[in-house]
Amino acid sequence: MLQAQLTIDPAHRVAPVRRRTFGTFVEHLGRCVYTGIYEPGHPTADEEGFRGDVLALTRELGVTTVRYPGGNFVSGYRWEDGVGPRDRRPRRLDLAWHTTETNEIGIDEFVRWTRIAGLEPMMAVNLGTRGVQEAVDLLEYCNIPSGTALSDLRIANGAKEPHDIRMWCLGNEMDGPWQIGHKTAHEYGRLAAETARAMRMVDPGLELVACGSSGSSMPTFGTWEATVLEETYDLVDHISCHAYYEEKDGDLGGFLACATDMEHFISTVVSTADQVGARLGSQKKISLSFDEWNVWYLSRVQAEAPRQDWPIAPPLLEDHYHLADAVAFGSLLITLLRHSDRVAAACMAQLVNVIAPIMTEPGGRAWRQTTFHPFAQATQHARGDVVRVEPVCPTYETAEFGEVPVLHAVATQDGADTTLFVVNRSTTEPLELELDAGPLGAGGGAVRIVEATTLTHEDVYARNSADDPDRVAPRPNTSHRSDPLRIVLPPVSWNVIRLSRA
Ligand code: AHR
Repeated sequence: MLQAQLTIDPAHRVAPVRRRTFGTFVEHLGRCVYTGIYEPGHPTADEEGFRGDVLALTRELGVTTVRYPGGNFVSGYRWEDGVGPRDRRPRRLDLAWHTTETNEIGIDEFVRWTRIAGLEPMMAVNLGTRGVQEAVDLLEYCNIPSGTALSDLRIANGAKEPHDIRMWCLGNEMDGPWQIGHKTAHEYGRLAAETARAMRMVDPGLELVACGSSGSSMPTFGTWEATVLEETYDLVDHISCHAYYEEKDGDLGGFLACATDMEHFISTVVSTADQVGARLGSQKKISLSFDEWNVWYLSRVQAEAPRQDWPIAPPLLEDHYHLADAVAFGSLLITLLRHSDRVAAACMAQLVNVIAPIMTEPGGRAWRQTTFHPFAQATQHARGDVVRVEPVCPTYETAEFGEVPVLHAVATQDGADTTLFVVNRSTTEPLELELDAGPLGAGGGAVRIVEATTLTHEDVYARNSADDPDRVAPRPNTSHRSDPLRIVLPPVSWNVIRLSRA
C-alpha cells in the first residue's frame, strides 16, 4: 500500500469558491438540444416541450451557468432564424456539424429553459460569418427592455422581460482552422475589439470573453493570446481556454495525469495576459473563462469518414464514459478549483448527450454517466474558500508529462467544515492518506471525518447505462480512522472527504 501525507492549512487560501466554475454548455449539436433538453411528446415533457427528467438531473448536477448556442455551430448561426413563430422559422444547413438545423429552439426558448432550470445564460455571438452589427442586434434583442425595433420584436415574440444576459463570448475558437470564418490572431483581435467596443456602447457593464486558444497544442498557443489581448485588453474581462483529453494508446497512467496539461495551460495564459497588461501599463487583470473542458475521444471522431448527408439532430459525439474517465475528469475539476484566483468561469462541455454527464434515449430514459458524479459532488460540497493542498506522496513516470504525483487534491473550507477532493491516480495501488488538519483544529476541538465517499470500480472501464445506471456511483468509504486521521483511497479513484471541527 502506498503512503501519503496531506496538511490542510487555511493560510493557503486561494480565493472564494466561484459558482461560475460549475458552468456547462448547450450547443446545437447532435442530440444536445433536440431529444436532450427539448423533446415535445416525451412522457416527462412540460407544455413547452422541455424534458422534465433532464431538468431534474440538471438541477441535481448543480450546474450554474450555461453557454449557448455554440461552439463551432455559432460561427455560422443567424440568431434571427430562431425567433418568432415556429412555423416560419427556416431550416438551415449547419456547416459545422454537417446537419440540418430546424431552429425549433432559439434564443427565447433557450433563455426560458435556463429560467426553469435556475441557470445563468452565457451567450456567444457569431464572429465567423458575421460581425459587429449582428452582435449588437442580438444584444439589443436580448437586453434592451423595450422601445426599439429589436426589443419590441422580442416582446412581440412573447418575452416581455429582457433576457438580461451578462456574460458574452466574442466568437468561438477563432484560432482553429476548422472554424467557419477562421482568422489570424490579428484579424480576430481587431474584430473582437470593435465588437466589444460597440457592445459596451449598448451596455458598459457586460462581461466579455475574447477567444483564446482551443488547446495548448495549437501551434499559435501563447502568441494568439498575446496578440488578441494587445488589441482587446481594455475592452474585455476574460480570455477563453478550451481543453479536451482522452486516453491514448492504452496509456492509462498518462491519461489520469492529464490535468498536468491543464495546469500548464492556465499558468501560461495567466503569465501571457499579465505580460500584456504590464506592457500596456494596465492595473487591470484579465481572468480566464475555461469555457470548454472535458474528456472527449476526439481522435475517434477524426478517424470517421466525412458525413455526406444532412440529418436532423443525429447522435454525435456520444461518448460513454467509464470509471477512469470520471477520475481524470475529477482531476480536471480539482485543477479549475485550485486556480479559482484567476479562473473566473468554466463550462463543462457539454450538458446532455454530446460528451455529456447526462444521457437520454429519445422518448425514453435519462441516466447519469460516470462523470456526473465528481461534478455533482463538487457543486454540492465545494463551499466557502478554496484552500490549496500539496500532498507529500509517491510519484510515477509518464511519457507525456514526465514525473507526476500519484495524488491530486484541493480543499474547500467553510467555517468549521472542510471538504477534501482527492484523486488517487495509481492504476494498481491503494494509498493510505494521513491527514494533518492541525491548523483546522486550532480554534476548537478535534477534527474528524464526518463522511467519506469513493468513486471507483474493480473494472476501470466500467460504464453506466440506461439498464445499469448506478454501476459506477460514489459509495461510502468506511476505511477512515482517527488518531492520526487516515483513510485508504483505492487505485483509480475520486474521493470526497468531509471533515468537521467538533
Ligand atoms: O464541444 C464540442 C466542440 O468542441 C465545440 O463545438 C467546439 O467549440 C470545440 O472544438
